[in-house]
Amino acid sequence: MKTLHLPKQINFSVLWFCLLAFPPPITLAGGPRMAAIASAHPLATAAGFEILDQGGNAFDAAVAVSAALAVVEPSGSGLGGGGFWLLKRAADDKEIIIDGRETAPLAAHSSMYLDAQGNPIPALSLDGPLAAGIPGLPAGLAHLAKKYGRLPLLKSLRPAIRHAELGFEVGDYYLRSVQSKEATLRRFPASAEIFLDHDAAPKPGFRLVQKDLAASLKRLGQAGRAGFYSGETAAELVKAVREAGGIWTREDLEKYRVVERQPIIGQYRGIRIVSAPPPSSGGIVLLEALNILAAYDLQHADPITREHLIIEAERRAYRDRDLSLGDPGFVEIPGKQLTSPDYAAGLRVAIRTDRALPSENLSDAASPAPQGDNTTHFSIIDRQGNQVAATLSINQSLGSGFVAGGTGVLLNDEMDDFAVSPGKPNAYGLVGGNANKIEPGKRMLSSMSPTFLQTEDRVAILGTPGGSRIISMVLLGVLDFAEGHGPQSWVSVGRFHHQYLPDIVDYEPGSLTAEVIRGLEKLGHKLKASKPYGNMQAILWDKPKGLLEAASDPRGEGAAWARQ
Ligand code: DON
Repeated sequence: MKTLHLPKQINFSVLWFCLLAFPPPITLAGGPRMAAIASAHPLATAAGFEILDQGGNAFDAAVAVSAALAVVEPSGSGLGGGGFWLLKRAADDKEIIIDGRETAPLAAHSSMYLDAQGNPIPALSLDGPLAAGIPGLPAGLAHLAKKYGRLPLLKSLRPAIRHAELGFEVGDYYLRSVQSKEATLRRFPASAEIFLDHDAAPKPGFRLVQKDLAASLKRLGQAGRAGFYSGETAAELVKAVREAGGIWTREDLEKYRVVERQPIIGQYRGIRIVSAPPPSSGGIVLLEALNILAAYDLQHADPITREHLIIEAERRAYRDRDLSLGDPGFVEIPGKQLTSPDYAAGLRVAIRTDRALPSENLSDAASPAPQGDNTTHFSIIDRQGNQVAATLSINQSLGSGFVAGGTGVLLNDEMDDFAVSPGKPNAYGLVGGNANKIEPGKRMLSSMSPTFLQTEDRVAILGTPGGSRIISMVLLGVLDFAEGHGPQSWVSVGRFHHQYLPDIVDYEPGSLTAEVIRGLEKLGHKLKASKPYGNMQAILWDKPKGLLEAASDPRGEGAAWARQ
């Protein structure tokens, strides 16, 4: 596999200079005695370090980074969205995931996005307030601070509040995101007022000021979860949503709770894998694919066979995603079976090295959908060795495009992650089944895969945005880690992806050589070049070397710093 070298789109030279100016790592027992943060925006990485420097731990820093991203990268995540925070506490080695996934409103029902003939009306589950699930991110931040942090919530929210109040100059990525969503943003006055410049897509140099959002963040900081889910913010959210055709009620907000869950844990060739459980499909699909691959010596396979086997493993693991995964509060998940090595051995029997096996029930309607770098991921390790891998989302770029009145909160369009019409593809071409049908209060199935990797000597923290491709990107990252490479390589590696349906391998230009493309086509695979995708943020702690390395995907505008 080739490594892509893509140019950074913004020159954050001053910040990079600061990184280079810090002293080299030292080797000591216990935690790494240094800290590292990799996130999709330099101001968010800086916010995390600001809180670490004020005595916060990795969990306080995670609050600061999540909130800062909500302000400075509104295309990817925000108070109006949700996500998963995978934690490891150094003091007792506790590993836990905070599930702050959105829920379907209580008035939601399985045919709410269908026309009279039963066909999905895509705009309804993607744009405007009807597309929005009940947000989990604010509850996640309150929970993180209260249960795992050292600092008051309000203190960790300060950097985000400052950026929202004073504004900041947006980068190319923001400008492109707004351009592609301009028409939707213009439909909603509060959205247009904040994200557009005099009702037009802003130009370079635009400062994004979000005073209402700053006030909502303050109320959250002062009152904890009640500062968002009850009182002034809640009243305004519900009023704005209902006036614009949405179905939220005060009860939806009052009832929202984060859930602490045990992560999915498994092994791949001596590497301990810790990743996201349902309602994310990430950990199960990742482990199932790795279990299938574990019997092959990929490192010494010729490149055509190597990529073919990865594609065949993905085809089978994503098929099980479609067939059986959903919210564990509503459906029985065969997690043990799907992640068992014996099950993988059974699937492996039907894999041939001399040809691709076509996916069953190939649907004409399914085609690779545009996706890639919305949503957001960050990775943190503090000086004591506390770890956070968090993937947060409002689903598509700028979510539903709907800002709820005077709250300044941009709402998600995560309802489209349900199987809106079981058997028909969603925005990511994913074909879900009944396990992921819409039900009141249910969490929609996700692909977000915040992940830890551990060997005797090495610890890795990684994840990425990218819709259904998140899992295959993390898979390629794990395989690259297994081959001994470092985080700069994991985040840069050329990407390709197969998700069972549609039966197509999509690949980044440059990720597969012409010879490999020809070889895969000869085996019967259909290939399609896509734009570069993903925005991986990763950290490596090499214990014997006492080395902490952080890396930010060259496709994005992020910043990865490691320092004392
Ligand atoms: O939870 C999920 O799987 C999706 N809502 C993530 C969306 C995403 O990564 C968008 N990025 N391209």
